[in-house]
Amino acid sequence: MLLQHLSLTNVRNFVRLEADVPAGPTLIVGANAQGKTSLLEAVYYLARAASPHAHSDRQLINFLALQEATPFARLVAEYRRADRLQRVEIRLVLEPGLNGSEARLHREVLLNGVKRRVSDLAGGLHAVLFLPQDLRVLEGPPSERRQQLDSTLAQADAVYAEALSEYGKVLAQRNALLKQMDEQGGNGSQLGFWDDELAEQGATLIRARSLALAEHDRLASPIHADLTRGREALHLEYLPSYDPLPPAPAQLGLPLQPAPDRTVLNRESIRDGLRQALERTRSEDLQRRATSLGPHRDDFRFTANGIDLRAYGSRGQNRTAMLALKLAEIEWLHQRTGEWPILLLDEVLAELDGERRQDLLRRVASLPQALVTSADIEMFEGQFRRAATTWEVVAGTLRPAA
Ligand SMILES: Nc1ncnc2c1ncn2[C@@H]1O[C@H](COP(=O)(O)OP(=O)(O)OP(=O)(O)O)[C@@H](O)[C@H]1O
Ligand SMILES: [Mg+2]
Repeated sequence: MLLQHLSLTNVRNFVRLEADVPAGPTLIVGANAQGKTSLLEAVYYLARAASPHAHSDRQLINFLALQEATPFARLVAEYRRADRLQRVEIRLVLEPGLNGSEARLHREVLLNGVKRRVSDLAGGLHAVLFLPQDLRVLEGPPSERRQQLDSTLAQADAVYAEALSEYGKVLAQRNALLKQMDEQGGNGSQLGFWDDELAEQGATLIRARSLALAEHDRLASPIHADLTRGREALHLEYLPSYDPLPPAPAQLGLPLQPAPDRTVLNRESIRDGLRQALERTRSEDLQRRATSLGPHRDDFRFTANGIDLRAYGSRGQNRTAMLALKLAEIEWLHQRTGEWPILLLDEVLAELDGERRQDLLRRVASLPQALVTSADIEMFEGQFRRAATTWEVVAGTLRPAA
């Protein structure tokens, strides 16, 4: 996949940008606070209709535009996918609230000029973004890991993206009913309808996450072995909130049991199991006024040589594991969709040691397209600099570097 042209209107500090984007690596340099991260965020937003690390969409709209009567931002990418020129456009409009109520953000997604749902972006532009704060995926709360996984899966799989969106709605309805029942009483069977729905959508998520994590594990392990010169073996392990597999019998004296294989389970059996489990936890849910079980509480774990990196990994170990995960994500998207995603690297080189930096740049150079930012061009070796196009970002404008 190749991004060919990017247009931005009122996106962060880019009031107006029209840029033809070359193939291969592009180095984006500039001093602090000029717009490097904003530019990568815009491309990512066009792929996912979501900002990384749960920044709100509203923050994307340019400050000055917010002073206008109907503030808006517009992002457009023209890209080549499956050898066809395509176009994705996302419009954000902040509609003034009626009678003093708060303004509402309205979002529209258009693919090739036709209004579509966000889940249809799976058929659009794909991007993989590396940010320095991605270490939170490994070290932060489970929500960070779910977001990372959902973002990758939703780009490749429209069915997953749709199930994720439906699951969120059903969960909110079920939780609202739990609260209402706690306050006003009611009969537990009212929950039955929402349990069915939750199990239906939840099973799609659990099944896809089981498969994707197993595939990511398979792809990330050799990349990681390469990055650590064979010193460490990385594994990713799914920790589902509702586990469709029966608990393994405890085996004393065997701390490193092989990870259970959940990829053999079909969606229907997961759905039926989750439905029953929801019924079993119903009285607990009524007490807590919230749904205690399901993919909204899933997690996954990184281990290196059997050690849980979240608890015991060194900073450098964790950076290398994150790098392996992101590189695996690129491979995974390629295997799933037949297209290489656009790689977006924001200031991550500064965090890596010399060997790792070289490994990464070698991979960057081998991809069809990558946008790489840095405040310090010296970070890149001469050979890479000669092969790359270099742009300079100055106060929300882009120009070829001198
Ligand atoms: N909605 C917005 N409207 C206008 N300007 C914004 C908006 N959001 C952020 N900015 C500003 O845009 C500028 C560019 O931010 P950005 O994070 O892209 O800079 P950067 O070039 O990546 O800098 P650094 O090298 O420090 O990472 C900053 O001054 C930031 O405060
Ligand atoms: Mg930045």
